[in-house]
Amino acid sequence: MEDKELVKLANEAKKNAYAPYSKFRVGAAVLTENGKVFTGVNIENASFGATNCAERTAVFKAVSEGENKIRAVAIASDSEEYIYPCGICRQVLAEFGDRNMKVICSKPNGEFIVRKLEEVLPNAFTEIK
Ligand code: THU
Repeated sequence: MEDKELVKLANEAKKNAYAPYSKFRVGAAVLTENGKVFTGVNIENASFGATNCAERTAVFKAVSEGENKIRAVAIASDSEEYIYPCGICRQVLAEFGDRNMKVICSKPNGEFIVRKLEEVLPNAFTEIK
């Protein structure tokens, strides 16, 4: 699966975002080591803290289907600027991938940039051995 395709899937997923409060729609798509793709959207709540970001929705869908090794995540919104995963999502991504996981940030026109997880989450906390 090419980065460009993953971005497209994240963009398409965005239409299902449930964002009545912020009106900020986000879509995500994760690629697992077995080549499967799971998409997700942000799901807000009247009790704002109960909101789930698009990235975590996609990760949780993958893990709950038995796919817990994630190689790449693409993120799409309606913003003209690249958006990066929030801090909580970065930590959740770190749980299911290594430092080389691709974090693909995109714009609505399909342009994208690729970062590694270690760049956006240096010195990540992992299980103490
Ligand atoms: N949001 C995401 O879904 N992913 C991000 O990377 C940043 C923020 C959502 C949460 C909330 O529904 C809305 O965007 C505004 O913060």
